[in-house]
Amino acid sequence: MNYYRENQAAFLEGLKAWLRIPSISTLSEHKPDIRRAAEFALNELRAAGLSGELIEGEGNPLVFAEWSGAPGKPTLLLYGHYDVQPPDPLDEWKSPPFEPDVRGQDIFARGSSDDKGQTYILIKAVEGLLKTRGKLPVNVKFLIEGEEETGGEHIESYVGQKPARLKSDAAIICDTEMFAPELPTICVGLRGMVYAELLVEGANHDLHSGVYGGAAPNPMQAVAEIISALKDRDGHILIPGFYDRVVPPSPKEREAWARLPFDEREYTEKEMGARELVGEPGVPLFERLWARPTFEVHGIRGGFTGEGAKTVIPARAVAKISTRLVADQDPTEAAGQLKQAVAKACPRGVTAELKVLHSAPPSLVNPDNRFIHAAADAMSEIFGKPTVYIRSGGSIPIVAAFEQSLGIPSVMMGFGLPDDNLHAPNEKLHLPNFYRGIEAVARYLELLG
Ligand code: BES
Ligand code: MN
Ligand code: MN
Repeated sequence: MNYYRENQAAFLEGLKAWLRIPSISTLSEHKPDIRRAAEFALNELRAAGLSGELIEGEGNPLVFAEWSGAPGKPTLLLYGHYDVQPPDPLDEWKSPPFEPDVRGQDIFARGSSDDKGQTYILIKAVEGLLKTRGKLPVNVKFLIEGEEETGGEHIESYVGQKPARLKSDAAIICDTEMFAPELPTICVGLRGMVYAELLVEGANHDLHSGVYGGAAPNPMQAVAEIISALKDRDGHILIPGFYDRVVPPSPKEREAWARLPFDEREYTEKEMGARELVGEPGVPLFERLWARPTFEVHGIRGGFTGEGAKTVIPARAVAKISTRLVADQDPTEAAGQLKQAVAKACPRGVTAELKVLHSAPPSLVNPDNRFIHAAADAMSEIFGKPTVYIRSGGSIPIVAAFEQSLGIPSVMMGFGLPDDNLHAPNEKLHLPNFYRGIEAVARYLELLG
């Protein structure tokens, strides 16, 4: 539609304004920015012609807006998140993270791909239809949250409490990636997770490593031992029972994954910048990424890490760890298994305490429904290629709640690219994907209406 072509410059300016707000959910000093980013989204939705409000509760505000002028037509729940990850390490950014910079066909800024840019696609698609026709072919409800990046669970409880208000036929989410540039992609599975902090304590104060070494427990060493007891050198998780509920992909899905256009060397060396891939031997790459659980260490704090040498046995050490879960693992059960395994692996002389910071169930969507088929058709039309179905190793916690509390499938139409640098320095969004994404979502709404 002409409207979408003619307004590209305005879409870009609008997105830039949103990206300038540093709405980092994990840092409390950014609370005012969180609110500003939520208000920005609400104003956009109102200007587009929807009625809405901020839903204020204990957590960051939820943005809710709706348009329900198409009786008898399906209702879609459009989800996105306005919060972003912290931008550090800052000195690795080529342009400041909150001063959006267009270079070539990309816009660089924190949140450009994950997820303000992609949420904006949904907003602009709806705006275009309303501005040009005065109505939509379907009913829509927007629910945009500000705690996705920290695993905040306020949206889950809201969805659990307000099933009538959120009643819809399907959820539409633009917060995933295309498998390759120009290749329209629908994501039908996500991993869940258990994120935890491991606190290990030995003596009640730091000790001279010469005077006490040989007799004193060392919490840093204990952290290393516990971590190595949880995963072996082949990448196999050693937590008892952890794989019991893991459902292998169907032969059909496996075959489809094997047919995806993929260059392993380019992936390893260019996209990851690594020497070689690791993980469970004999398990194909996409299965390792999308259909197997993981155990990862994110950071270890403790002892002396300054310049030079200091001979000390630290009194305590902390590690941030997580596991990614796949269908049909259950986060509560997995957390329990992890806790037990930590207790069992804890060496003598120290205590190990595991505090779960957040968790989310995995999700697997059955692609055989008309909402996903129409999305595949719309994307194929706009991108000029058949749509592929993939899963993703990342997590979007609300997908499971949409299924459980509202009984609706999620249609994950992603417009990010594998090299978008999500959560990393120099995050970007490919602008052709941004503009085509808006058209694809608009086309999708038309097809459903
Ligand atoms: N949009 C991502 C998840 C994602 C990335 C899905 C790429 C598919 C492809 C999301 O914002 C994210 O980063 N989620 C966190 C969730 C966690 C903090 C609960 C994640 O996966 O680490
Ligand atoms: Mn996201
Ligand atoms: Mn993210």
